[in-house]
Amino acid sequence: MMNAVSMQTALDIKSIRAMFPALSLSVYNKPLVYLDNSATTHKPALVIDGISDFYRTRNSNIHRGVHYLSEAATLAYEEARNKVKDFIGAQHSHEIIFTRGTTESINLVAFSYGEKFVHEGDEIIISALEHHSNIVPWQMLCERKNAKLKVLYFDQNTELHPEKLDELITPRTKLVSITWVSNLLGTVVPVKEMIEVAHAKGVPVMIDAAQAIQHFSIDVSWLDADFLAFSAHKAYGPTGIGVLYGKTEWLNQMPPYQGGGDMIETVSFEKTTYNQLPFKFEAGTGNFVDAYGMGLAIDFIRSIGIENIAAHEHQLMEYAIETLSRVENFMMVGNPANRAGAISFNLGSIHHYDVGMLLDKMGIAVRTGTHCAQPALEVLDIQGTVRASFAVYNTTQEIDALADALRFINNIF
Ligand code: ALA
Repeated sequence: MMNAVSMQTALDIKSIRAMFPALSLSVYNKPLVYLDNSATTHKPALVIDGISDFYRTRNSNIHRGVHYLSEAATLAYEEARNKVKDFIGAQHSHEIIFTRGTTESINLVAFSYGEKFVHEGDEIIISALEHHSNIVPWQMLCERKNAKLKVLYFDQNTELHPEKLDELITPRTKLVSITWVSNLLGTVVPVKEMIEVAHAKGVPVMIDAAQAIQHFSIDVSWLDADFLAFSAHKAYGPTGIGVLYGKTEWLNQMPPYQGGGDMIETVSFEKTTYNQLPFKFEAGTGNFVDAYGMGLAIDFIRSIGIENIAAHEHQLMEYAIETLSRVENFMMVGNPANRAGAISFNLGSIHHYDVGMLLDKMGIAVRTGTHCAQPALEVLDIQGTVRASFAVYNTTQEIDALADALRFINNIF
């Protein structure tokens, strides 16, 4: 059995916490216990100060000016792209498209890949674990093209199985888009095996890595994903910036997603020619300052080591499941063998919203409700959950605080 004393990790969590200004906040005169990391993580001073410094010393539009500041900003933007490329093991920096975040990355593929490759009667496969962002863009595409959206369902443990995907794929299947980690339940999906199954039938796969990128090492070349999307703000970086990774062979064949600015090579009233990758998919002025901030967040992760983060969070997860399971009325939702990032639960018949409100008053931030995953909850036949989600800076003491607070709530109902 693990407890706070016996739990050993390679990390000095106290020093890591000191890097995050928001973690020393008090709410309602109580120290903040922040367990809403699947929604967004806090940012280290390195990122906050770096962004501020950028505006003070390097701000100028990218890819446009011949002057000193513009070249400095362009260099920083392209360096950030290279950091992302190395971080996820991509082959080429032009396979890294900066977007507003995971949602925009998925919409880009749904629009652009869909425009070129999806026709009436074709099929797109998603899973029942998906976030709305990996459902709605495909529904919109299917509506536009009169195509069919098919769903891979999870089992009683909320796990997905490659052999079930194999059964769903037909000659009309044009793409599988699937999450790596469920934002609702923390289920880790065997995406490598899913990709192998799909590729064996010639079907490309998009991975929603929004809840994976911050928790464990990702190597798109090893994975052989065709597309992969994530956001910076869930991985210690700024809001408003994210990434679409796409294989060159696909990106080259796909039409632009939006028109204007950086995606243009030449324009006349008769005809426009498009810029090369990655700029073809980056219309307008890119969010260069936040791309730089994302690069700093990657520096932060690297300075700790993603393997060390994964090990710490794994121990935290085990500790949380064991500790919270001892709380009367604690009902965990989902029982996957492999879980990362989040635990969803209910406390007896107490409404999840009431639990969340009371936890908040005790200084504990969790998310409550449907977590942008209403179809998964419908399959589970529950209205909502309380979700506690973890980052590298969380501690066993914070989990103890959550368990104590849940006991207190039990007593007042
Ligand atoms: N997608 C984010 C979450 O799961 C907002 O909370």
